[in-house]
Amino acid sequence: MKKLFVLFSAAAAVLAMSAISASAQQPIIIKFSHVVANDTPKGKGALKFKELAEKYTNGKVKVEVYPNSQLFKDKEEIEALQLGSVQMLAPSTAKFAPLGAKEFEALDLPWLFKDDAAYDKAMKGPVGKWLFKKLESKGITGLAFWDNGFHMVSANRPLLMPADFQGLKMRISGSKIADRYFRDVGSIPQIMAFSEVYQALQTGVVDGCENTASNYLTQKFYEVQKDITVSYHAHLQYAVIVNSKFWNGLPADIRAELTKAMDEATDYTNSIAAKENKDALAAIKASGKTTLHYLTPAQIAAWKKAMAPTYKWAKGRVGGEVLDLLSKELNIKMN
Ligand code: LMR
Repeated sequence: MKKLFVLFSAAAAVLAMSAISASAQQPIIIKFSHVVANDTPKGKGALKFKELAEKYTNGKVKVEVYPNSQLFKDKEEIEALQLGSVQMLAPSTAKFAPLGAKEFEALDLPWLFKDDAAYDKAMKGPVGKWLFKKLESKGITGLAFWDNGFHMVSANRPLLMPADFQGLKMRISGSKIADRYFRDVGSIPQIMAFSEVYQALQTGVVDGCENTASNYLTQKFYEVQKDITVSYHAHLQYAVIVNSKFWNGLPADIRAELTKAMDEATDYTNSIAAKENKDALAAIKASGKTTLHYLTPAQIAAWKKAMAPTYKWAKGRVGGEVLDLLSKELNIKMN
């Protein structure tokens, strides 16, 4: 009996040992969900982060990238992050209000950033840090800001003057600032998940939308919009965010390697965004399936004038603090 007990204990010990070593070998999984195609600045950035994170941690971390709303659509992915069923996202900052962080919408103000460099510099400065502080109480940690350049706008008619927008149903991604500037020009904005836009344009559920060239190309929006105005009237940016409980629970050395991977993936993404969008615009043009329009200085002035009320209104939505930080950082007057 005693012998049998010793035998059992030895077997149990061996089993326990092998379970421990198996679990020591199990990689930490990061599910990184996003809504765009792989072949876009964000898609490429996510894959670059995967490559670097797995390399720097010697495979102790495995990053699973799920593009194209494969796992979750816009709103659901934010909920999934808070619940911990995904660990990492890079939503556009237009989608942060459900997180209780409306301040991020300030970045959607029309003609706010004069170019990508101004955006990148601002986000690496005090305003970027201030915005990420807003997420702390929500169980979310902000890691980086990614770039996707400037929005174009489209419909089945040329949009050259504010009056051309009159009565059009325009798809927006979530920001009340975009809602407001589309109202300023007489259109009717409608929030819709990114994965539903192509069909909505095709069937006429909405008349038009705004987005960057890389998204127009990879989602084929240009096939169902007769006219695209290369207006670059607002900027599309992402905040890469993680579930704080997951992030803070990582061993410190792993977190340091992942931070390094994220910093490098960020520089990579922000360095390719402009070229990716330029190439996408050239491909859209070459397709011959839509007409591209460019605004004259007088037309741009007319848009700016028509959308000026958004700037006055913004303070009530996003608060004065973020607007002051932006105005200081970008050296501009807010109204
Ligand atoms: C959109 O919904 O239009 C964008 O946020 C998509 C994206 O993530 O680029």
